[in-house]
Amino acid sequence: MTTRTASSPSPRTVEPKGRFIRRLFDTISPRYDRFNRVSSLGLDQPWRRRTIAGLKLLPGMRVLDLASGSGDLSVAATRELLPLGQVVACDLSYPMLRFARKKFDRHPFAGWHITLAQGKAEELPFRSGSFHAAAIGFALRNVSDLDATFRELYRVLKPGGRIGLLEFGRPNSLLFKLGHRIWLTLAIPLIGVLTTGKLWPFLYLRRSILQFLEPEQVLRRLEAAGFRQIKAEPMTGGTAYLYQAAHPVNSN
Ligand SMILES: C[S@@+](CC[C@H](N)C(=O)[O-])C[C@H]1O[C@@H](n2cnc3c(N)ncnc32)[C@H](O)[C@@H]1O
Repeated sequence: MTTRTASSPSPRTVEPKGRFIRRLFDTISPRYDRFNRVSSLGLDQPWRRRTIAGLKLLPGMRVLDLASGSGDLSVAATRELLPLGQVVACDLSYPMLRFARKKFDRHPFAGWHITLAQGKAEELPFRSGSFHAAAIGFALRNVSDLDATFRELYRVLKPGGRIGLLEFGRPNSLLFKLGHRIWLTLAIPLIGVLTTGKLWPFLYLRRSILQFLEPEQVLRRLEAAGFRQIKAEPMTGGTAYLYQAAHPVNSN
C-alpha cells in the first residue's frame, strides 16, 4: 500500500478529483498570478487575450468565465463588453473567487460588470441558454468530467454562442519538445516552490499536462457534446492550445 503524507496527495488514491483540485487551488490562491506570470514567461496574458478575441464579443453580451480562478479572462472579456454587458466568473474554489473579487475591485469598471458564482463545471448553476459566449482557461485538465463539462457549456449557451478554451499542450517539434520537458520537470517545480512555498501542486501540474488528451481528442469530445465549427489552434509551438467552437444556430 502506498503511504502519502498530507503534503503530497494524489487525486486517484486519496480523494476524488474535485476535492483534490479544490484543495490545490485553495492552497495556492494568493500566489496563483505570480506563479502564472513567471512560469509562462509572461505569455499567459497574451494567450488569454487571444482567447477572448476569438469570442468576438459585443457590448451588452453576457459571458461565462468558467473555472475563472483569479479572474484574468473575466477582466479581458469585460474590456470588450463596455459600456454594457456582464461577465459571470464561476469557480469551484472560494479562496480563488475571493482573490478574484479583490482584483476586480481594483480594475476600473470590472467590479461593476463581473459577478461571482461558486459552482462546478459539471453541474452549472445557470439556466439553459443564458450566455452569449463562454471561456475556460487552463482548467480542462482539472475538471472531474470533461464530457459533462462540455455538455453543460453547450446547455448554458444561446444558439450561435461561441466558446474559447485555453489549455496547455505538448509541442510536437523535437526542439520544443525537449525544452518543454526540461521546463516542466525542472523549472515549473522550482518556480512553484519559490512563488508559493509548495511543491505538490506543481508535480500535479506537470503530470496533468503530460497526461492530457491530444488536441484531436478534445475536438471529438466537443463535437460529441453538440458543438460545431470546431478548431484547435496551437500557440507558442504547441505549448498551449486554443480550442474554439460554436453552438449551432439551429440545434433542433
Ligand atoms: C489553473 S486555474 C485557471 C484559472 C483561470 N481560468 C486562469 O485563466 O488563470 C484552474 C481553476 O479551475 C478551477 N476548477 C477546477 N475544476 C473545476 C470544476 N470542476 N468546476 C469549476 N471550477 C473548477 C480551480 O478552482 C481553479 O481556479
